[in-house]
Amino acid sequence: MSPIGVFDSGVGGLSVLAALRAELPRERFVYFADTAFAPYGERGDAYVIERSRKVTGQLVAEHGIKALVVACNTATTAAIHMLRAEHPVLPIVGLEPALKPAVAASRTGHISVMATRGTLASAKYAALRDSFAGPASVRAVPCDGLVKAIEGFDTEAIAALCARYMAEAGPFGNASGEVDTVVLGCTHYPLVKNELQRHAPPGLRFIDTGAAVAQQTRRVLASLDRLADSGDGGLLLQGSGELAVLEAAAAHWLPQPRQNGTTATAANVA
Ligand code: DGL
Repeated sequence: MSPIGVFDSGVGGLSVLAALRAELPRERFVYFADTAFAPYGERGDAYVIERSRKVTGQLVAEHGIKALVVACNTATTAAIHMLRAEHPVLPIVGLEPALKPAVAASRTGHISVMATRGTLASAKYAALRDSFAGPASVRAVPCDGLVKAIEGFDTEAIAALCARYMAEAGPFGNASGEVDTVVLGCTHYPLVKNELQRHAPPGLRFIDTGAAVAQQTRRVLASLDRLADSGDGGLLLQGSGELAVLEAAAAHWLPQPRQNGTTATAANVA
C-alpha cells in the first residue's frame, strides 16, 4: 500500500501526524517539513500556494501517495483549492481552525482564535466565522513570531510570545464577557500547549483539530477502500531544511516516535 503524505511549513504538522498515527497505526506516512521556506503565515498567498504545489508535486511523484493531509491551516486556507484542482484523483484532507466545536463548547459565548496572520486574514476564515460564530464573540489573535520561535527551539522567545498572546486572548474565566475557549488554529501551537497553559486559569478549554482530522482521514480512506488492512506503520521524514533538526524535532515532539517498529528515516529534498 502506498503511504499517506503529510506536510506543513515545518514541525507544526507533527502535532497532526501524532493524531494520525494514533488513529491509523497500520498506515505508512511520509512527513514533509518545508522548513527552509517557513514560516508561511506572514508571507502572503502567492508564496504559500507556490510552496504547497511544489511539496505536493514532490510527494506524489516520489512516493505515489494515496492521500494527502495538509497539516497546516495557513496552507489549507491559501492553497487547498489549487491542490485539489491539480490532483483531482488524490484525496486531500485539510485543516481549518476549530471554530464550530469551540462555539458549541463555550458557555460564555466568548472565544479566542490563535492562528497565523495569513489564516486570520483569509476569506476562508471570514466565511468560517460567518457560518459558525452565530451570536458568539470571536476574537482573532494573530501570533506573529511564534512559529519561528518553535521552529528554532527558542525557549525564551516561546515563553515570552505565549505570555503576550495569551494576554491578548483573555480575559479568561467563566463569568459573563470572559473567554472560556481558545482555538489553536495553527498546527504549531499544540506543541507549546503546556507553555500556553501557564497563562490560563484551570479549566480553560483549548481546542485543536488533530484528532478530528485523523478521523476524517480514516473516513475518506475507508470510503475509497484505501485503508491498509495489514502492516505496522512506518514513517519517512523529509524536508527542505536541515534533516538533523527535523529528526530531533520528531524525537522531541512526537509521542513514541518509533512506535510499532517504525523507523524514522530522513532524506533531503530541495
Ligand atoms: N503550522 C502552520 C499552520 O497551521 C503554518 C505556520 C507558519 O508557517 O506560519 O498555520
